[in-house]
Amino acid sequence: MELRSSRWYSGNDRNSYIHRAWMRRGLPREAFEGDRPHIAIANTASDLTPCNSHLDEVARSVANGVWAAGGVPLNLPVVSLGETNVRPTAMLWRNLAAMAAEELLRANPVDGAVLLGGCDKTIPSLLMAAASVDLPALVVPGGPMLTGHFRGAPLGCGTDVWRLSEEVRAGTLSREAFLESESSMIRSRGHCNTMGTASTMACVAEALGMTLPGTAGTPAPDSRLLERAHESGRLAVELVSRGRRPSHVMTRGSFLNAIVTLAAVGGSTNAVVHLLAIAGRLGVELTLDDFDRTGSGVPLLVDLQPAGRHLMDDLHRAGGLAAVLKEVEDLLDPTAIAVTGRPLVEHLAGAEIHDGDVIRRRSDPLLPDAGIAVLRGNLAPGGAVIKPAAASPELLRHRGRAVVFDSVEDVHARLDSPDLDVDETSVLVLRGCGPKGYPGMPEVGNLPLPAKLLEKGVRDMVRVSDARMSGTAYGTVVLHTAPEAAAGGPLARVRTGDPIVLDVAARRLDVDVPDAELAARPPVTTGHARPARGWERLYVEHVTQADRGADLDFLIGSGGDHVGRESH
Ligand code: FES
Ligand code: MG
Repeated sequence: MELRSSRWYSGNDRNSYIHRAWMRRGLPREAFEGDRPHIAIANTASDLTPCNSHLDEVARSVANGVWAAGGVPLNLPVVSLGETNVRPTAMLWRNLAAMAAEELLRANPVDGAVLLGGCDKTIPSLLMAAASVDLPALVVPGGPMLTGHFRGAPLGCGTDVWRLSEEVRAGTLSREAFLESESSMIRSRGHCNTMGTASTMACVAEALGMTLPGTAGTPAPDSRLLERAHESGRLAVELVSRGRRPSHVMTRGSFLNAIVTLAAVGGSTNAVVHLLAIAGRLGVELTLDDFDRTGSGVPLLVDLQPAGRHLMDDLHRAGGLAAVLKEVEDLLDPTAIAVTGRPLVEHLAGAEIHDGDVIRRRSDPLLPDAGIAVLRGNLAPGGAVIKPAAASPELLRHRGRAVVFDSVEDVHARLDSPDLDVDETSVLVLRGCGPKGYPGMPEVGNLPLPAKLLEKGVRDMVRVSDARMSGTAYGTVVLHTAPEAAAGGPLARVRTGDPIVLDVAARRLDVDVPDAELAARPPVTTGHARPARGWERLYVEHVTQADRGADLDFLIGSGGDHVGRESH
């Protein structure tokens, strides 16, 4: 079999000389002989992505595994997105990171890749890139951090920030105590330890078959992560020799397995957008309705924040993802393979639950039906999503008067005003926060509750927006409404006082205003960004709506790994 990298390195002409000579900074001549696969380690380590800052150590273990299996490891720094730092939202840059990684993998003399991610957007962008270039690849998730404690109680990353800051606003926690908890939240290296987006996407990557089975959820400081990284490096070399590509692993069956997993672990709504985008790159048919259909009836088995109590370290100790999947094995596609070449379900054989408090048995679930619900109606013709597991059951069927905000700035200006005409039955509507509108579809959909209601003890209200929410957040929050207001969706025509009707069981989201009247209203677009140049402009002109994964229209599909022309 001819290695892709040999198209650069083999032969005795001027060009192969150039390719080899510069790479011999540290690489021996044998690195270019004898069919040694060259494996890129796509590395999102960055000091500005604190959740991924330990990945250089993980990369060294991967590199040792690649050498041990006869390959040549090559560290490839790629665009890294730190969820907490990057403005206006890391999601604006996900497609840029995916595009850059795809092009770097294609442009360089590599035969395969190990993808090192962790923080929210890093695994999705790398999977999108790997899908489009379709070189043999697997993911090593960087793993969650260990549980921090404050005043004896465990702290869940993200989730407890939302909770504690609402306690401060409600007057039940002092600002001093709140600030004291800050130094306790991030106990170690690793990504958020709740079942937020990072943990969800690690589990989803494993369910897709794209990790060495048993790796997802291994805490970042755990020695076993480095062992798995070493083995993953070895496996990358094998993937090349077998010609096993992402398009062989990530089939429709794998995506349905990922949807079952998402429900069983109580994962983040963000996974919906990311999975749609990855599937789009592969040409796998996947729609919003697949999430509802396949996820419905899947029990919630994992008692983790934000929907439950425990944290990722507890999940790992309790048996990890394999123990969860073992309980729902009959719902998984038995033919969908992992990167090992064997069906994912075969890897569940020895899995056991060691703590039934963290991972519940199928016969005793936290919720019988944990799937993400897809809503449609005159307010969301293209669909909207809600995670019933993180919502208040009594609000899942609700009619209330809309209180409309045109932007997050509008929320900040008016939400806490004593004059705001709002009560606990109101529905908070936020628009201008979709992919085009913000731009980048930020995690602001779980907008805070008005101060005067918090003081009354109200802790949840129905909220509707075209935004996303953090995977660490909770509440009766309708998200990803499509089309968004900035794309001419009906959300732009809703007015304060309109009755909004949510009926999750019926999968409906409507505004009770006659269609003709709604259509006759001028759309409100005051809160929308109109970027003049650069990536933001390209993004706004080409981003698809949430129901198609918010990818750029010209990035959908696969370009393969071929490059026709020499550089010299
Ligand atoms: Fe990086 Fe949560 S901020 S995973
Ligand atoms: Mg997040």
